Parts: sequence; C-alpha cells; structure tokens
Amino acid sequence: MGKKLYDYGMIGLGTMGRNLVYNMYDHGYTVAGLDKDLSKVETFKQEKGNYDLFGTHIIKEFTDALKKPRVILLLVPAGHVVDSVINKLKPLMSKDDLVIDCGNSHYTDTNIRIKKLEKIKIHFMGVGISGGESGARNGPSIMPGGSKKAYERVAHLLQSISAKANGVPCVAYLGPDSAGHYVKMVHNGIEYAFMQLIAESYQLLKQAAGMSNDELHDIFLKWNNGSLKSYLVSITADIFKQKDNLTENCLIDMILDSAHQKGTGAWTTEDAMALQVPVPVIDAAVSMRNISILKEERLVAQKQLLGPDNKLNIDKKVLVYSLENALYFSIITVFAQGMALLKSASDAYHYDLKLEDIAGIWREGCIIRASVLDDIMAAITEHPLLSNLMLSGVFKEKLAVLQDNARKIVKTGIDTGIPLPAFMASLSYYDSYRSGWLPDNLLQAQRDYFGAHTYERTDRKGTFHTEWNQKQH
Ligand code: 6PG
Repeated sequence: MGKKLYDYGMIGLGTMGRNLVYNMYDHGYTVAGLDKDLSKVETFKQEKGNYDLFGTHIIKEFTDALKKPRVILLLVPAGHVVDSVINKLKPLMSKDDLVIDCGNSHYTDTNIRIKKLEKIKIHFMGVGISGGESGARNGPSIMPGGSKKAYERVAHLLQSISAKANGVPCVAYLGPDSAGHYVKMVHNGIEYAFMQLIAESYQLLKQAAGMSNDELHDIFLKWNNGSLKSYLVSITADIFKQKDNLTENCLIDMILDSAHQKGTGAWTTEDAMALQVPVPVIDAAVSMRNISILKEERLVAQKQLLGPDNKLNIDKKVLVYSLENALYFSIITVFAQGMALLKSASDAYHYDLKLEDIAGIWREGCIIRASVLDDIMAAITEHPLLSNLMLSGVFKEKLAVLQDNARKIVKTGIDTGIPLPAFMASLSYYDSYRSGWLPDNLLQAQRDYFGAHTYERTDRKGTFHTEWNQKQH
C-alpha cells in the first residue's frame, strides 16, 4: 500500500491556519500542514483530536505528502513572507500545482505573483478570508480572485467551508487577477470605518452623557436587535460586559486608547485616492487610528488646547435614539463609498466585479456582516447600473428620514468638543454628493490665477486661461 496522500496543504499553522484546517476536515477533506515554527506544528498535532492530519516543519515532507496536482493554501503574514514561502516551494512544485494566498496581501503583489508563477505553469490565486478565528473555524466569508479555471478546482472546497447566508455559501468567484484581494482590502476599509463610527458613538455616550459600561452594554445590545444588527455592534455589546482578570475594573477601562493597524485600511484610502473615488469616512477612520497613537502628544495638548465642556445636558434617551439613527445613516454611506470604490476599481483593473455577489457574500461570516447587507444586495440586484447606492429607492428614503438625526449628532459633537470625524465625514459626503453645485469654480479660478492651469467654462467647451488682474492686490 502506498503512502497516504492529502487532498490539500496548508502553510502557516497559526490560529487562523489551524482553524481553517479543522474546518476543512469537518467537511471531509484531508489536509497536511506546514509551519517553520516547530511549536506551531506541535500545537497543530495536539489540537487535532480525531483528525487524521499531518503536520511538519520540513517543506519537502510537506510537498511529498500532497496529491498532485497540488493545492496549497497559504495563511502567512502578508508581504515578504509570502514571497519567501513561494521561493522555497518553487523547486518542489510541478506543473499545474495551485497556490492560494489566503492572507491580506496587497493586491498589486498578488498581480505580480500570478504573472511570475504563470511563467513556470504554477497557478496562483489571491483569496480574501474574513471572520477572524471563529470564522475560520466555523465558516468565513471567502473572496476568491484569479483564473476562473483555478477557482473551479477549489469551488467545492470553498463553498463547503464558507459561512452560509440563508443556506447560500458566502463565497463567489469575484474576478481575474487580484480581484479577491482587492475586494478583501475594501472589506477592511469598510471595517475600519464601521469600527470608528462605533468608537465615536462610545465616546459620545460615555463623555457627553456619562454612561456606564453596563448602560453601554444595554444600548449596543438593543441596537443589535434593530436595523443596526451586525457582528461589530454585537461584539461591542459583549466588550462592555467583560471584567478584567487583573483588577476589579471592566477590561475596556484598562485598555490603552491607541489602536494600531496592519495597513489594509490605509491601502483602501490610498487606492481610492489614486482612482479619485471619495471614501471620506474610511479616510477619517485611518487618520483617527493615526491620531490615537499620538497618546503622549495628546496628553500634553489636553492641558493646552481649549474647547467646550464634554458634558451635555441632554435627555439620555433622546441622545441614544438620535445616535442609533445617525449610526445607521453613516453605515449606509460607508457601504455606498465602498461599493463606489469597487465599481471604479472593477473598470480600472478589468475585474468585472458583480457588486450584488459581493454584498451577498458579506452577509455572513465576515467582520462587516450586517443586516443592512440584505437591503444592499437587493438594491444592487434591482439597479445594477446605479452610480451610487445612496440613489437606490430604499436607501434614498432611509437617508432622507435618518439625516435629521445625523445632523443632530454632528452638532452635539461640535457643541461638546467631542471629535466625531467619521460621523462628520459621512454627513459631508451625503451633503456634497447631493450638491448640484460645489464651489470648485473658485478652485479652478485660483489654479489658473497662480499657475495658469486653465479652467473650463459653464457655457462653452474647451479650456481657457485668463491674465488675472494682478494689480488688484
Ligand atoms: C477579517 C479582518 C482581519 C484582520 C484585520 C485587522 O476580515 O477577518 O479584517 O483580516 O483582523 O486585517 O486589521 P488591522 O490590524 O489593520 O486592524
């Protein structure tokens, strides 16, 4: 009898990689695992329970243990580690082997890797996976990109291990090249904005209304039973209840107010800027993480820069009601910005993305899963050519009703000096998008005045330049 060969290989046996392997086993697939860190291989073997899995830190043992043509999944940190793994695999791989990068790689790196490996007849796919540890274990949302043929080889696997929304797998072939990693990047940009909006809500409720963690828990729990139903709102409710192991306090009060980042949010705003697509709430969220890490500077400035009193004399119930509506309003605008970016990127990078499929696979398993995605999916399916989600019948009406409270919340931020950049950016996005006239005629005039950059006119075609009257200074 020959040696046992495994259906799939997994490189990277950290928590995500291990959980994904156990998920694969639960669905009847056999997997061999590789990690250069022996302790991770040991944990993998110890946790395996009854699974007949194989783990090693020796790459040749790993590639020899796989059925051919091989399918190897990577769950390793994005960046140079992916290239280093590929370089080590290269001499051991054969024609038609398929390597699937499941990490948060930058989409441009994925394009380069696809091209390089194509030359030696190895297939490469960039697949975004969202849902954290529990998603990997119980069903993540999966965003695959690459060649359709390669996808077809793993469609069954990905469909089985993915989350299900009303029984439908949260995975769909998204497009060629780096389409999957691009969509995952935008998912993360939306994640940043959603989290920032929740954080601003927390600051307002805590500082302006003086609410306790128990009250905050109750509010987020209640919100999660309404139109804000979402994974991020539900975990926020849990967070306010968590006690600290080391002190008598709630854990949230013992955590430093500085949030780090691995880069996907910033990549989203960078690419949106390059494509000239406005995503101001995502921009604000990334900037706020950057402000948060200036903890020492903020402590100095707190004593020097004056502002109004954070406390507000307001009926808590009224504030909570307005905030719930403002948050819903802003989340709609965030999804509108994310979808608008995907639409432009689809044209610019020839991804041919189906936005309704993307909304569909985000409904379960991923970090930004939210009940509003059902409406988003329905709206895009009904009007696939709409330039902006905010213009669809259902959202147009919702925004019209909710805007009043969004304005109230922004005003509260201004009156109390509590920073609400994501809420403000969201309202400004809405207001500027619905402005048939914006003051950019003046910008054109200024550019032409100081730099002869020319301007366009409202009454005739072409570009014009004026010798502006410099004497009038
Ligand atoms: C997910 C998450 C996941 C990861 C983020 C964290 O979809 O499961 O987005 O990919 O937790 O990348 O990103 P930051 O470290 O940049 O906050």
